[in-house]
Amino acid sequence: MDKQKVAICYGITGQDGSYLAKLLLKKGHFVVGVKRRTSIINTSRVDCLYHNPNFKLEYGDMNDVSSMYRLLIKYKPDEIYNLAAQSHVKVSFELQENTVDTVAMGTLRLLNAVREIVPNSKFYQASSSEMFGDNPNMPLNEESTFMPASPYACAKLFAHNIIRNYRKSFNFFGCSGILFNHESEKRGETFVTRKISIGTAMIKMGLQDKLFLGNLDAKRDWGHAKDFVEAMWLMLQQDESDDFVIATGENHSVREFCELAFDYAGLGDYKKYVEIDPRLFRPHEVPCLLGDYSKAKEKLGWSPKIKFDNLVKMMYDYDISMVRKKYGK
Ligand code: NAP
Ligand code: GDD
Repeated sequence: MDKQKVAICYGITGQDGSYLAKLLLKKGHFVVGVKRRTSIINTSRVDCLYHNPNFKLEYGDMNDVSSMYRLLIKYKPDEIYNLAAQSHVKVSFELQENTVDTVAMGTLRLLNAVREIVPNSKFYQASSSEMFGDNPNMPLNEESTFMPASPYACAKLFAHNIIRNYRKSFNFFGCSGILFNHESEKRGETFVTRKISIGTAMIKMGLQDKLFLGNLDAKRDWGHAKDFVEAMWLMLQQDESDDFVIATGENHSVREFCELAFDYAGLGDYKKYVEIDPRLFRPHEVPCLLGDYSKAKEKLGWSPKIKFDNLVKMMYDYDISMVRKKYGK
């Protein structure tokens, strides 16, 4: 019988970490999730895994090298998934150093520790379509030019490049998934899709009158996180490491997201409820993102399953049930 694979996942408490942990457990892995210390308990997305004998939570931080060495020595993982980040683009304009330290330097720290302790392991890096930034040449693929437009994107590009560099210089198995936006019922509540799905549900239940948003014309290539974590795992099952764009190949505006959510909720025209708050505009907006996932389709056999309409409905259905439960309606 094959030895059970051990995976370490940084960023386990986030949206993707929780979906990835469930997928890896289904695949038979032993999963070590790394959480950081916070003043309020931050494990709600993975609490359902707490009693699983193949799942273990450990403290660690992208800014703490000795904890990286401790965990790598203790578990000798076969696979390492680096999903940890200050992942909010707008916030990165206000917390530049923290974002760069966690995303860029944190990745470098982890890479160096991995090279020393488990040099034959496989490493997944959560790269981002934000790295394309201002590039207007859609659809974007692995050969497209990176033109990062935020401190977050600049930091992600450093991490992306250092993985490529280690792959070429040290024969290191490091894959970067250039993931376009992916959402879900577990999406952080300050990202626009979840703001809309929760806001629509609150308005539907009469608990809120208005939803305040920023740029409604921005377009994103939105998929579902459950589909996207499958691509992460597939990348590490290959014989050679590489970079892959993961996207749906379709994009929609924030306005279209609102139209669909309010219509589905039976509230009619979103314009009755949505107001623009200029404080939510960004110093440098990425107006449009659209990905071409042909390489992932060809080499990994990966394609997205959940379409935009369904994504909006799934998120709204979840949030209306949550609102009902929470407010006893
Ligand atoms: P998320 O929900 O914001 O999760 C980020 C995770 O990183 C959380 O577990 C967070 O912990 C952890 N973290 C933050 N700072 C840390 C630190 N200093 N040390 C250790 N852990 C830290 O993000 P996500 O949507 O799951 O995305 C996962 C990764 O993919 C991120 O790197 C993101 O930048 C990247 N990405 C996301 C998308 C997308 O559309 N979702 C697209 C492309 C790339 P807390 O729970 O304690 O905050
Ligand atoms: N967050 C937010 N809040 N965004 C808004 C709002 C609002 O009230 N109103 C309009 N938007 C617009 C933003 O200006 C942006 O153009 C778009 O909605 C999407 O914003 P977010 O949902 O915050 O996501 P993002 O595209 O900036 O970043 C996400 O995707 C990246 C991949 O492309 C994050 O998950 C990043 O971590 C990820 O790398």
